[in-house]
Amino acid sequence: MKIQAGLPVSGSNFFIRGKLIDRAWDLIETGNHILIAAPRRVGKTSLMYYLRDNPRGNYSFLYLDTESINNENEFFRRIVNKVLKVDFVKNSQKVITFLERHRPTIKKLGLDGVEFGVREEHDYMDMLIQILTSPAQEGKKLIIMLDEFPETLENIINDEGDNQGRHFLQSNRALRHNREVSKNVQFIYTGSIGLENAVSRLNAIKTINDLSRLKIPPFEYQEGRDFIARLTEHVEFDLSETLIDYILEKIEWLIPFYIQLVLYELKFIHKTQTPSTITKRTIDLAFSAMLEQRNHFEHWHTRLRTALKGNDYNFVKDILNLTSEKETITVNEIYNLAVKYELESSYKILVGSLVYDGFINNNDNNSIYRYNSPILRMWWKKNVAN
Ligand SMILES: Nc1ncnc2c1ncn2[C@@H]1O[C@H](COP(=O)(O)OP(=O)(O)OP(=O)(O)O)[C@@H](O)[C@H]1O
Ligand SMILES: [Mg+2]
Repeated sequence: MKIQAGLPVSGSNFFIRGKLIDRAWDLIETGNHILIAAPRRVGKTSLMYYLRDNPRGNYSFLYLDTESINNENEFFRRIVNKVLKVDFVKNSQKVITFLERHRPTIKKLGLDGVEFGVREEHDYMDMLIQILTSPAQEGKKLIIMLDEFPETLENIINDEGDNQGRHFLQSNRALRHNREVSKNVQFIYTGSIGLENAVSRLNAIKTINDLSRLKIPPFEYQEGRDFIARLTEHVEFDLSETLIDYILEKIEWLIPFYIQLVLYELKFIHKTQTPSTITKRTIDLAFSAMLEQRNHFEHWHTRLRTALKGNDYNFVKDILNLTSEKETITVNEIYNLAVKYELESSYKILVGSLVYDGFINNNDNNSIYRYNSPILRMWWKKNVAN
């Protein structure tokens, strides 16, 4: 297993999280459509890659990153082009006949499949339904995984307005509830921003209330230990149990990304320093070096900066600044900030999205919030608050 921090991991670099994968399969095998609910950088895309690369039984998986899509017909066109490449429909007589009929409008017909170009007059959702209801073999199931789905929704809202956003959600729901489609096809949606927040702003919760939630929790302590053991199998240094515990205690919120980042820095320091023995001090240095890398954390800030405007942004920034200085913030202090920014009627949604996005939690005590991760707290304090 290679130390790899940044891009999604796959193959032997994916640390198998048994319980999480079992939960995912339980939901799939009982026929659910799924919403993977998890903050940024916890491993959503890597989990989907794993499912795609390790299908069970009669299931095929399709993965599509929809982040750049800003229009409903385009969204369905991209899925049509992907579906035509998976075993689920390849060799289906009905699909072959369907393609024959559409031959003049096909953009590309090559070894790696068929591709439809952008054509306004095509209703790609309708095409998709025709294709999805024509599997190559009886009993085959297709799981369509749509990554960054909430980004697509936001793009549509920004470019075409709230009504188109609602329409997009309703079309997705209609597709899931099409009786013929749902015999063979299930959907998994995920993304780094809260779908619920965007949807409740549109007053459209009904359009997603049929989705089952799959949470991706941080590692349990023992899982964190095992993960470090795997990551250090091929490096040139050993970490004693005491040092492993020291790292895990410092990270606190055990998402694999943070563990990878620390080990990446340790590996680098180990190569360049003399003497090369790893001590607690080396680990402290690795943490400092990690916090220097602005690009690892900047997305936390830019996300808020682009998603929130005016006082909404000022309000959450104040909460995060204060909490980064004092480690905790009480619900009273939060309320006072809400009064300051005249947000008494809406501030709870904003606090909710900070929790959803993985910044803060009130798990230990209902009336006190703290950062999930001391790493993010330190980064925020240094780079945003001061
Ligand atoms: N199962 C895993 N095994 C090893 N490393 C992992 C695993 N899951 C996540 N990681 C680490 O976390 C990083 C982020 O993973 P990934 O891109 O899958 O998360 P994400 O939730 O999709 O992030 P984003 O919200 O930015 O889309 C990876 O670069 C890797 O370092
Ligand atoms: Mg991702």
